[in-house]
Amino acid sequence: MGLGCMGMSQSYGPADEAESIATLHRAIELGCTFLDTAEVYGPFTNEDLLGRALAGKRDQVMIATKFGFNFEGGKSHGTNSRPEHIREAIDASLKRLRTDHIDLLYQHRVDRHVPIEDVAGTVSDLVKQGKVRFFGLSEASVTNIRRAHAVHPVSALQSEYSLWERNLERDVIPVLHELKIGLVPFSPLGRGFLTGEVKRAEEYPEDDFRRNDPRYQGANYDANVKAAQAVRDIALGLHATPGQIALAWLLHKGDHVVPIPGTKRRKYLEENVAAAAITLDDAKMKALDDALAPEKISGPRYNEKMMGLIDR
Ligand SMILES: NC(=O)c1ccc[n+]([C@@H]2O[C@H](COP(=O)([O-])OP(=O)(O)OC[C@H]3O[C@@H](n4cnc5c(N)ncnc54)[C@H](OP(=O)(O)O)[C@@H]3O)[C@@H](O)[C@H]2O)c1
Repeated sequence: MGLGCMGMSQSYGPADEAESIATLHRAIELGCTFLDTAEVYGPFTNEDLLGRALAGKRDQVMIATKFGFNFEGGKSHGTNSRPEHIREAIDASLKRLRTDHIDLLYQHRVDRHVPIEDVAGTVSDLVKQGKVRFFGLSEASVTNIRRAHAVHPVSALQSEYSLWERNLERDVIPVLHELKIGLVPFSPLGRGFLTGEVKRAEEYPEDDFRRNDPRYQGANYDANVKAAQAVRDIALGLHATPGQIALAWLLHKGDHVVPIPGTKRRKYLEENVAAAAITLDDAKMKALDDALAPEKISGPRYNEKMMGLIDR
């Protein structure tokens, strides 16, 4: 189990910096050392936070970060994976992270204007220079995974995958198995939905991501709460929390699956890490698979603009 750090800088309400840093330190104590960030989180401030929090602890963690956007006026502004831009972005990430190497470097979104071979080639050079150890992609299609992998081995795909978001199952996961690529499911708790501690979209503040997540809106919300009842029922029977069941379900999908639940608090981190000890038998796995099957879940995972960035 890894730790998603995005929420320490954006998306899910205000963060307390001292608690975020304490959460990072507690994660190391618990052996949860696969830390996920990106230049676009903040932007920039999330990498900077990790850099400061990990002073003297760099060799105890695996840092995964991502490149792939332009920035203007402190906001991300379209994709950019041109080779010269990647090289500049990585030097800036290294500086903010206060390290001389990134363990896992992902392209955050496929750039339709830059052939993926050029991206893989550029990262391959960074690997040769010792600035990067492993190469990853995020939300890439099967075609682009194969094309990139032919140039430089892709070690991991980071895409949205959870009990209520199963779009990878038909085409992408079989290819990951075939090419022996790891899967890092992001938003494994459904941005919090699967923990049961959720509200309707309009009850979140203006800058909370979930306000614009169609799955949290109107009739979609009602249908999804109903589907997720199965998670709450199974949790009750196992003296676990619903969020722990959602994470255990992912871990039971195979050794190559490493979820990165996001939190900015020690309490949630400890609960999430403990999910690795939960066993789900075949009957429970099937019950969960069926109860939250795609036809039972309402609403797309992104609004139209953000969906436009997904490579399918
Ligand atoms: N590659 C990409 O495009 C992409 C996109 C999105 C995310 N990510 C990465 O994936 C990571 C995880 O995804 P995510 O953060 O979007 O969603 P997530 O892990 O599904 O859910 C995060 C939300 O769940 C809450 N939460 C966490 N543990 C909880 C618990 N035990 N009980 C109750 N609530 C709990 C968090 O609360 P608090 O915030 O209050 O702690 C936060 O609101 C991110 O941090 C980021 O690193 C990548």
